[in-house]
Amino acid sequence: MILLTGGAGYIGSHTCVELQEANYDIVIADNLSNSHIESIDRIYEITGKRPAFYDTDLLDGEGLNAIFEENQIEAVIHFGGLKAVGESVAEPLKYYRNNIAGTVNLLEVMKQHNVKNLVFSSSATVYGDPHSVPIQEHFALTATNPYGRTKLMIEEMLKDLYHADPEWSISILRYFNPVGAHESGLIGEDPNGIPNNLFPFIAQVAIGSRSCLHIFGDDYPTADGTGVRDYIHVMDLANGHVKALEKNLYSTGTDAYNLGTGIGYSVLQMVRAFEKVNQVGIPYKVMSRRQGDIAECYADSSKANSELNWYATRGISQMCRDAWNWQVKNPSGYKSHAFS
Ligand code: WQD
Repeated sequence: MILLTGGAGYIGSHTCVELQEANYDIVIADNLSNSHIESIDRIYEITGKRPAFYDTDLLDGEGLNAIFEENQIEAVIHFGGLKAVGESVAEPLKYYRNNIAGTVNLLEVMKQHNVKNLVFSSSATVYGDPHSVPIQEHFALTATNPYGRTKLMIEEMLKDLYHADPEWSISILRYFNPVGAHESGLIGEDPNGIPNNLFPFIAQVAIGSRSCLHIFGDDYPTADGTGVRDYIHVMDLANGHVKALEKNLYSTGTDAYNLGTGIGYSVLQMVRAFEKVNQVGIPYKVMSRRQGDIAECYADSSKANSELNWYATRGISQMCRDAWNWQVKNPSGYKSHAFS
């Protein structure tokens, strides 16, 4: 059994589908603070296999322990954590408690049950404002907000854990910008409240639930002045977790991998692509820069290519198509019922 903490969430649910299709049995632990129980039914609808589900918070040591007592867990993929940059600036202690203390709890329970195979959900945010692009794993690591600092601290914790006990097999996956949805449109990104991220905001403008996209700055040193990012289809990202899990099964150590496409697109390029692929209009207004944003960020994923035999295979058109398909079928996210 593979335990997915935060497995009812956006990336967790897509990874669950990918793992089930690779014939793994899944247990999901999620406190549903930023996800929906409906996603479990949708996973079942896609794969015909229902993951075991525990409504458990990572801060609940006894609850976590019960999961390991009741299931033969052989590895853990750790998605569970808070991830809103702005919120982390306003409420740092909430982020340190949930992300750091929650991870320490998880690692202690894993150790007690001699489960030492872990895939950790990290983020390109640990690179801060890189000195150059494309970004490689050996680049300097720095955090520019409490959320990013929790990711960086957890990466350091995992390295210390491996040095104390070389039986651990740990893969740290640094996501660039996950977007899109499973091709069925049954699972997808359903952020709470106003989306912080570009893609769900674009999709909500396209479906009419938001009137206008605000583009945060067009005076960056980029081709068209808007921010450049490495958008990666969530199913490619999900596949990266399967490959990392399999690498952990035959080797020990702690390694970090960039999961991105290696291609940077600007905000305006994404808007144009979304409009063209889906034949929709995205009204927008250029505003001032968002605090903490960087001009350009995209990955060199050659380490994941060679060591995990992982490659991103889906391009920008499929990202736009699948994001839109999810939005059309679920105009209010999981709260709405899938249209036929
Ligand atoms: C992308 C581009 C914005 C919204 C964030 C987190 C990072 C990771 C991924 C968790 C930027 C522009 C955005 C909008 C806009 N999350 N934008 N209008 O900031 O690259 O990364 O999500 O790990 O930690 O920082 O993603 O989608 O917010 O922004 O113009 O309404 O779109 O300025 O250039 P970002 P994003």
